[in-house]
Amino acid sequence: MSNRTPLMAGNWKMHHGPAAAARLTAKIDAAASSHPGVDVALFVPFVSLAAAQAAAEGLRVGAQNAHERQSGAFTGEVSCAMLAEICPLVLLGHSERRHLYGESSALIGRKVSAALDKGLEIVLCVGETLNERESGATLEIVSAQLAAGLESVGEGQIAGITIAYEPVWAIGTGRNATPQQAGDACRAVRDWLRARYGDAADRLRILYGGSVNPDNWADIAAEPDVDGALVGGASLEAESFNRLIAISAAA
Ligand code: PGA
Repeated sequence: MSNRTPLMAGNWKMHHGPAAAARLTAKIDAAASSHPGVDVALFVPFVSLAAAQAAAEGLRVGAQNAHERQSGAFTGEVSCAMLAEICPLVLLGHSERRHLYGESSALIGRKVSAALDKGLEIVLCVGETLNERESGATLEIVSAQLAAGLESVGEGQIAGITIAYEPVWAIGTGRNATPQQAGDACRAVRDWLRARYGDAADRLRILYGGSVNPDNWADIAAEPDVDGALVGGASLEAESFNRLIAISAAA
């Protein structure tokens, strides 16, 4: 871990309605406040945002997706303008959005632009599939996702963005990247950011995500370019997520 403040972010996906969200947020918030050296965020379902926000004192709450436009005839969608009234963060480009819902890197780039326009901070996810890794295309894929996702992001705006490197083959599979794979990919992301944004890259946080749990996190967290984690399954209960926060605090 570097001198960048680590960020531990939970992604609850389609779990925890408002009542459960309020209870779990309060339990995680208590752990977050006893580790002030770690930033904590929770990406919760839209309908649970208000309940989680009300239960959060120290940690920050965000949405898991947003539409690329700020309003209009888009039944069932939620805009960044709406989110900005209720929370400070949004997760964009998660692999489930890319692969299950067909979101292209260009669309994700437009969503990033919409979120920045409304002052939301962003966690932008990138990562390769197993086929792409095995064919040696990891860096090419991740670079292309960064280029499209950050296309509209100028030097003055990059500070509001965190990148989450999440290899698709490690998400929800129980098969985490090795510390070296995670560290190498996060370093490559930082190199890409440095080439585009200069020294600002050294202040940006780059997270690893994919089957992070209390047994594997300390070794991954020790990698110098890994500044925290985006955690799915292990963020659904306070016990495991709070242990991850404590491990980051000790790293
Ligand atoms: P996982 O999910 O920790 O359950 O692998 C990570 C993610 O989807 O962000």
